[in-house]
Amino acid sequence: MPNDLTPPSDAFAKSAHIDAETYEKMYAASVADPEAFWAEHGQRVDWIKPFTVVRSTSFAPGNIDIKWFEDGTLNVAANCIDRHLATRADQTAIIWEPDDPNDAAKHITYAELHRETCKMANILEDMGVRKGDRVVIYLPMIPEAAYAMLACARIGAIHSIVFAGFSPDALGARINGCDAKVLITADYAPRGGRQTPLKSNADAALLNVLHDCKVLVVRRTGGQITWMEGRDHDYAELRLEADDHTPAAEMAAEDPLFILYTSGSTGQPKGVVHTTGGYLVYASMTHAYTFDYHDGDIFWCTADVGWVTGHSYIVYGPLANGATTLMFEGVPTYPDAGRFWAVCEKHKVNQFYTAPTAIRALMGQGDEFVTKYDLSDLKLLGSVGEPINPEAWNWYNTVVGGGRCPIVDTWWQTETGGHLITPLPGAIATKPGSATKPFFGVQPVVLDAHSGTEITSTEAEGVLCLKDSWPGQMRTVWGDHERFEKTYFSDYKGYYFSGDGCRRDADGYYWITGRVDDVINVSGHRMGTAEVESALVAHAKVAEAAVVGYPHQIKGQGIYAYVTLMNGVEPSDDLRKELESWVRTEIGPIAKPDLIQWAPGLPKTRSGKIMRRILRKIAENDYGALGDTSTLADPSVVDNLIENRANKG
Ligand code: WTA
Repeated sequence: MPNDLTPPSDAFAKSAHIDAETYEKMYAASVADPEAFWAEHGQRVDWIKPFTVVRSTSFAPGNIDIKWFEDGTLNVAANCIDRHLATRADQTAIIWEPDDPNDAAKHITYAELHRETCKMANILEDMGVRKGDRVVIYLPMIPEAAYAMLACARIGAIHSIVFAGFSPDALGARINGCDAKVLITADYAPRGGRQTPLKSNADAALLNVLHDCKVLVVRRTGGQITWMEGRDHDYAELRLEADDHTPAAEMAAEDPLFILYTSGSTGQPKGVVHTTGGYLVYASMTHAYTFDYHDGDIFWCTADVGWVTGHSYIVYGPLANGATTLMFEGVPTYPDAGRFWAVCEKHKVNQFYTAPTAIRALMGQGDEFVTKYDLSDLKLLGSVGEPINPEAWNWYNTVVGGGRCPIVDTWWQTETGGHLITPLPGAIATKPGSATKPFFGVQPVVLDAHSGTEITSTEAEGVLCLKDSWPGQMRTVWGDHERFEKTYFSDYKGYYFSGDGCRRDADGYYWITGRVDDVINVSGHRMGTAEVESALVAHAKVAEAAVVGYPHQIKGQGIYAYVTLMNGVEPSDDLRKELESWVRTEIGPIAKPDLIQWAPGLPKTRSGKIMRRILRKIAENDYGALGDTSTLADPSVVDNLIENRANKG
């Protein structure tokens, strides 16, 4: 019954920031007069010099230019910390829950956050970091990760976080990509009872970095590491001497705040650039309204700060709102499948935000892992990263939320900075599997994929684009503005193209149907099939590879790789394992193929183009729908692939 409407309860709607009527009124105002709307809501952050220009944005071909609040100045760290000190110095800003439940949690107050951020800022300055310099952060989920982000923001340095699950190669490429002056890392990252050797990964990464890059090392476990005198700096030691009052730099609204690499359909990951003013306005506003955050609530987003969700909804959004945000170092299944709920009970979490892949994995473990905990403090549940299937939605709703917590299914992207399509929980009746309605100022359109024309009827199916800018929009691809235009504004001129397909139903609700490009979504993480392919062909025994997604019960999509071996190389289980671990080391564990099929040949057109559509169908076990195969150079290739399809196991 995916069309069942679940309206907000009267009690929830009554105390919510935004009820149905307010939503309609504010949404209408936000699109009728965006200047006036954002002039007002731009005030939710503190400006050093107030802006007078609300926006100048253009999606016009050849002139993609996005600026919000451009003549205003501000500092993000001051907004996330200093401005709260008068009223919240002793309030907990960050609750840190360690990987091992037997270790003590930490409660970091706004006063402490201020002190630690200033110290970190001072250390970075002493290491030579100046306004506009880049700092790469490769850390576990520890409070120092937040200090590092905010310290960069404080002195005007641009951070680029690399998820601690990425390999040395991926880390090295990102350090080179932004010419980082400093890399902040830790000795080890404990996760699920295991430890990733971050420092030794960093050492390996830096072998491929030719410019001077200093390293700041946080001791998380105290485990053994190698040390390079002169290059490596000990955080604990420097912290003792560091000044705990570092002034907050005055930044222009359009100065970059961070770079975050994300996978696209072609080539290497691109550095998404977010700037200072618009991003903060948007992250904080969506945090407050989508989660209906109220003063004193405990907010928990289970993402990692290595992803955009962690940037916007662990650190910047909540802290700009003076919230208490929970940061969790571990994984949902350690020491057992009840960990999320144990943490919710322990810290009295009010809003909980996670990914469908985690929900599906936990749902399979049985309800007792949930029901043995007291979850009565939960008021709202959130979902992000991929479409949530109605079965998982219903389980989340009834077993976790006890039927009383609205579910916000938030659709957005690294590129969008914050939620674009999401229910506002006091205003919008939800339907399992639908991200529902646009946030304020957001104008989604559904285009016919082939003609590119806008489908104006309420019911529509096609590709999801945005007609106009919003403050949290990415501004450029780091160092490559042309790629920015080519990726997002060239397929459908005059629009921002999301890369997602969608359906709009008779009620005007949006249903995201998944990527329409060669990006797959594995456990809520974006993976470019081209990236995995280039890792595979870099192996000496591989001649050619084609990677597609296929439906996977837990991960949403799994990675299916068709591999053609070099002449004379025999396929074997050992070689399969070797290729799996090869991709792990080239990119990281999240890119490991779930299935590898040996393919003596790949289906190609006569001009040599791989016909991925056919490969996707075979991977999906959907042979009836192979479509037009008349352009194949050698149709027998397809029969062979079907016959030898890898087992879903
Ligand atoms: C997908 C994560 C359906 C989508 C914030 C998008 C979703 C990509 C949803 C962005 C959702 C994210 N429903 N699909 N609620 N949220 N997606 O950049 O395909 O890691 O384009 O940002 O995830 O992934 P990214």
